[in-house]
Amino acid sequence: MRPEGRVLDLGCGTGFNQQFLSNGQTYVGIDPLLLKGANQYGFPFLLGMAEYLPFRENSFDSAVCIATLDHVGDPAMVISESLRILRPGGVLGIMNKGEIEGGRVARYGVYLRLGLRKLRYGNIAGLKRGLLEVVTGAEDDFHMHHFDRDSLSTLCASGFQHIDTQMVGNTLFLRAIKPGMSDRRR
Ligand SMILES: C[S@@+](CC[C@H](N)C(=O)[O-])C[C@H]1O[C@@H](n2cnc3c(N)ncnc32)[C@H](O)[C@@H]1O
Repeated sequence: MRPEGRVLDLGCGTGFNQQFLSNGQTYVGIDPLLLKGANQYGFPFLLGMAEYLPFRENSFDSAVCIATLDHVGDPAMVISESLRILRPGGVLGIMNKGEIEGGRVARYGVYLRLGLRKLRYGNIAGLKRGLLEVVTGAEDDFHMHHFDRDSLSTLCASGFQHIDTQMVGNTLFLRAIKPGMSDRRR
């Protein structure tokens, strides 16, 4: 999505995603967990929830929500708060686990690729979790919400426009624009 300007990372964790910015953007993070000691973040960090953003209207150029929307209590509130704090023309980018498209055969193909990758990187816990999911059909128990392209687009459609989605393996990407005059990236 190439976030620009002032970027808010919703559910920033340790700020891992800051490393992917390269054009002098200002990075600000918010998360309800203090995962490092106070003052160790090295970027403006706020302890808080993405459902209640402590920022003024139109105060960010971009917002990203990476591997987080399925953990929050109320995804719709996160979307409407993102809309409020973004400037007109500002961009929201979401990355999340998504429902694999194309039926059972496609699903097993993706699981097989993911399983082999986990094996290659020695992620045995992840491999076990994935196998359990495939064999029992059970949802994992640490994601509170599950999205596919339609449900995530619908969530963002109340306010955002130019909504694009893409599935890569089992990962769902969405990019959406806040309506306004000054959208520089369309
Ligand atoms: C899987 S981690 C992803 C962290 C980071 N985005 C990354 O990609 O490394 C999910 C994060 O969502 C945060 N989280 C949970 N509920 C939240 C909420 N209501 N608002 C904001 N963040 C939340 C968790 O504290 C956790 O840091």
